[in-house]
Amino acid sequence: MKNNSFTVAVLGAGNIGSAVIERLLNVDNGVINLNLSKVLVSDLSKDRNLDSGLLTTDFNEILNDEKIDLVIEVLGGVDPGKDYIKALLENGKSVITANKDIIADCGSELIETAQENNVCLYFEAAVAAGIPVLKPLIESLRGEELTRVAGIINGTSNYILTSMEEGSTYEDALQQAQDLGYAEPDPTNDVEGIDAKFKAMILSLLCFGVSPSAEDVFTEGISNITKEDFDWAKRLNKTIKLVAQIDNSNDGFNARVYPVLVDNKHPLAAIRGALNAVLVEGENINQLVFSGPGAGSAPTASAIIGDVLSACHQMVTSQTNWYPLRTPKSGNKEFKDVQSSWFIRLSVKDEPGVLATIAGLFGENNVSIESVIQEGRGDNAELVLVTHEAEEDNLNSSIESISNLSSVSSVTSTIRVYI
Ligand code: HSE
Repeated sequence: MKNNSFTVAVLGAGNIGSAVIERLLNVDNGVINLNLSKVLVSDLSKDRNLDSGLLTTDFNEILNDEKIDLVIEVLGGVDPGKDYIKALLENGKSVITANKDIIADCGSELIETAQENNVCLYFEAAVAAGIPVLKPLIESLRGEELTRVAGIINGTSNYILTSMEEGSTYEDALQQAQDLGYAEPDPTNDVEGIDAKFKAMILSLLCFGVSPSAEDVFTEGISNITKEDFDWAKRLNKTIKLVAQIDNSNDGFNARVYPVLVDNKHPLAAIRGALNAVLVEGENINQLVFSGPGAGSAPTASAIIGDVLSACHQMVTSQTNWYPLRTPKSGNKEFKDVQSSWFIRLSVKDEPGVLATIAGLFGENNVSIESVIQEGRGDNAELVLVTHEAEEDNLNSSIESISNLSSVSSVTSTIRVYI
């Protein structure tokens, strides 16, 4: 750093990397000057519309260059980015990353390494990309004891669910998401809730000081949701969203990702297409909702450039330390003990005593039924039930017993209701 001028390197020149480089070359905020000195790529021969003198395939050229103040990591995946970030921080360089996999995996360790070495580590783009939500959670809401964070934090799955709400089948909606470039050719991470799980792990760390492991976060995706589920949701004045929900009440901390029926009047129901939203609750703030574009190269680059400028401003004044992470307030609550309300569709024989037997099995498992709709389909009937809140364990036991009844042809859907 010299006279507010900073030397910057970028690891990766894919979609996000290219958008970041373009922004870096054009940043003019009147105070900070950014000079791009190196870009790490895997293939020098690829045409990149960049001065070839900037390109290198050797990470050590960046690590050992004393002129480089700050490095932007946009490689994707955990390896080798994780080792690179650690080495850079230990070598006195600030790091900005969009890499949710790495921060979910070892965020608190890397934050500690940054603090020990008096450098910055920021990752606003790792959760909900263009929505500036991490900084408010770390700084502006520092005085607030948060009780819940719930988010639609995967744009691809929200795009698919919105299309299904409008009448598409899951398969058609996924194809549209792929055609528009939201979903990868292998969409597993997005549609099975894995991407949202990593983001929920980061939110858990920043909002509650808890680092749950990937196994601790119950995760269910959207690939089993059908058009018929949406038809029923509509009849109940609800829609279906993939929600990451993190609760931290007196009886424990739990983070989970699953599709839920959301009341049409709830703010999360209004988040449509590829947009994201993060809803935050605390005693004094009641409820805040941050919403906007949560994916795509331009919003992601915007969050990265914001982090770069924050880090540079901090370096100018030698204030590179993070706020200390929050201290966990309560123990962990296992998912089996979480209270949920379930929407359940059953295909049953339409004959005397069936409804009473099913109601009896719920009762035996301490599950109370809130509402029932039955529709005849010849000799069979479709039975749609919504339960009151009950422990996950009890709900699962009820469904297991009910699915073994000879009068029940199938348990067609079980979807939780957002409470
Ligand atoms: N694939 C993610 C999404 C964006 O669809 O939201 C990157 O995290």
